[in-house]
Amino acid sequence: MSELFGIIGNPIAHSLSPLLQNEAYQLNEIDAYFQAFHVEHEDVETAIKGMKAIGIKGFMVTVPYKAKVIPFLDEVDAIALKKGAVNIVQLIDGKYVGYNFDGEAWLQGLLEDMNRQSLHEESILILGAGGAALSIYHTLSQYGELRIDIANRTIERANALKEVGGDHKYTNVLSLEEAESMQYQYDVIVQTTSIGMWPDIDQSPIHITKLKKDAFVSDIIYNPAETKILKQARQNGARTQNGMKMLALQNALSIEKWTGRKVNYQQMMASLHKALS
Ligand code: ATR
Repeated sequence: MSELFGIIGNPIAHSLSPLLQNEAYQLNEIDAYFQAFHVEHEDVETAIKGMKAIGIKGFMVTVPYKAKVIPFLDEVDAIALKKGAVNIVQLIDGKYVGYNFDGEAWLQGLLEDMNRQSLHEESILILGAGGAALSIYHTLSQYGELRIDIANRTIERANALKEVGGDHKYTNVLSLEEAESMQYQYDVIVQTTSIGMWPDIDQSPIHITKLKKDAFVSDIIYNPAETKILKQARQNGARTQNGMKMLALQNALSIEKWTGRKVNYQQMMASLHKALS
């Protein structure tokens, strides 16, 4: 019998995960099907019970339920618990166990595109202080010597992220205006807010005018493929990356977790390009 996997969110109709996952199953001869499930806020617990009852071996969790699912899972891995968010759930010995690979997927994609094995003494600026920023901050904190500054519209939220994320040694909390004027200090800038996402494509959290030489700018948005901040960064000589690789890697990581099979995420990137162009 085929396995069934899925994703829960709200809204979920435009999720590209079903396309990426089902193509990967076909290409890799994995006998499974992936379905997106639209779940209402008051139904999250019932949906999870239902998925277990019908034998779903794994599912992804997306906005706005990454934190909300936690009390309804049987176990949550320590890192996901610290991040306060789950994006992948796996059925292990009859128990739903939650994980969070958001930060890892982003970092793997960053290192690949920077052509680096790891980070050393770089200065990094995170724009935003929501769930995605927390996951990335937490993942970067494993490199003790990095300077990881956080800039956010709401300063208290950036301060809270610094504390929850493990109080990294070298972190300054900044306003977006301060970040804009200090942009030339950073080797890597990562944009984690929803600003600039389609249809609001003429918006940007900061204007890029004077970057450090050899700076790398990453935006976790993938639609549009080049946000305003990425365009300005490219025009200022930076190397850039959008969120497609992070999305593809998250899907590839989930398949690996659920089936033990490593799939080629480059194929997923090609499908994403096609779907979004
Ligand atoms: P996610 O979990 O996807 O990261 P989130 O937790 O809602 O989403 O966080 C959204 C981030 O985008 C926050 O940093 C938010 O800033 P505030 O903390 O000040 O709300 C930021 N953001 C969203 N819209 C914004 C806007 N128009 N201007 C500035 N920041 C914005």
